[in-house]
Amino acid sequence: MELMETIYNRRSVRFYTEETVDKATIDKLINAGIQAPSAMNVQPWAFGVIQDKALLQKISDETKAYLLASISAKPYLECYRQLFSNPEFNIFYHAPALLTVFAKPEGPNPSCDCALAAQNIMLAAHSLGLGSCWIGFAQMSLNAPELKEQLGIPKEYIAVAPIIIGHPAKVSPAVLKREPEILFWK
Ligand SMILES: Cc1cc2nc3c(=O)[nH]c(=O)nc-3n(C[C@H](O)[C@H](O)[C@H](O)COP(=O)(O)O)c2cc1C
Repeated sequence: MELMETIYNRRSVRFYTEETVDKATIDKLINAGIQAPSAMNVQPWAFGVIQDKALLQKISDETKAYLLASISAKPYLECYRQLFSNPEFNIFYHAPALLTVFAKPEGPNPSCDCALAAQNIMLAAHSLGLGSCWIGFAQMSLNAPELKEQLGIPKEYIAVAPIIIGHPAKVSPAVLKREPEILFWK
């Protein structure tokens, strides 16, 4: 797929088939991720993959409970109250894989570097006919000390980009992109 076509047609995918994504494909996505630029070329990223459905469901349930309890302190979450209260809602949309980019505390801006790796992964997924979606809701859970310990994530690593990957079950609708605000062009 031509690069501009990939950039323009990638969408966040929220409906997936049951089909799993094989290890070779996930490796391909990680290797696309690490082609990203990074400040001072420190490449401050690490990756974690969860394909265990029960674990994804558990993280989803715990995250919803936590976010629901956080609404009073974070009023911008109010619009999600119904969603987080819905037992049917899975924050990972039942995708078969969650690939998370973790930032290591190296270089001047590891989170930015990891976001660039994440975008490479999402574009690569689209070019391979897969769907993806960055699940910001999961960031807090993946940074919780208990889960870090359970998954063997070093304490000083920060989950930056939890990305679900799978085979799209339907075509995602186009998203309106606002005209760019050009501040200066001297
Ligand atoms: C940092 C970040 C966090 C996001 N978190 C979520 C999320 O938790 N759940 C979700 O469904 N989409 C999430 N998204 C996807 C956005 O909603 C999506 O990118 C946006 O609506 C634009 O749609 P597009 O990706 O199809 O262009 C997130 C995207 C980013 C960049």
